[in-house]
Amino acid sequence: MLAGDRAPIQARLTVGGTAHRMPATLELALYRIAQEALRNVEKHAGATRAGVRLDFKGPEIRLTVTDNGQGFEVPSLTTLVGAGRLGLLGIQERARLVGGRCSIRSAQGKGTRVQATVPAAAAPG
Ligand SMILES: Nc1ncnc2c1ncn2[C@@H]1O[C@H](COP(=O)(O)OP(=O)(O)OP(=O)(O)O)[C@@H](O)[C@H]1O
Ligand SMILES: [Mg+2]
Repeated sequence: MLAGDRAPIQARLTVGGTAHRMPATLELALYRIAQEALRNVEKHAGATRAGVRLDFKGPEIRLTVTDNGQGFEVPSLTTLVGAGRLGLLGIQERARLVGGRCSIRSAQGKGTRVQATVPAAAAPG
């Protein structure tokens, strides 16, 4: 559960595939992505449930954070920069820096899904 002013959020972690250690840079990137996504769930979603899923898919690892909250219209990168909102930008940047990609899907009333897919062997640099 996440602490907060409102009702507690039930959080569930699921691991798919064969879990294995990963390069430290990758581990940190995925950790930070999950941390910010969960922080957003706590701050903005009004959700009662959050899910964190880590899938080991051979050459790729995929992290998915979902919530059943109110959802939102995903702003353009330019809008986020202009508004000084750095969380979603940071998520995308962290995924990119380890050679991966990121998708943010949300719809009003339908919750949010933040997903990062990264190569299991972190890209150099
Ligand atoms: N899980 C979510 N549910 C509902 N709205 C969300 C969710 N995640 C993000 N948002 C919306 O997207 C906006 C941008 O999120 P972002 O993390 O970039 O900025 P922030 O959380 O407002 O500020 P910061 O992360 O810089 O402290 C939020 O202000 C919020 O309106
Ligand atoms: Mg944020």
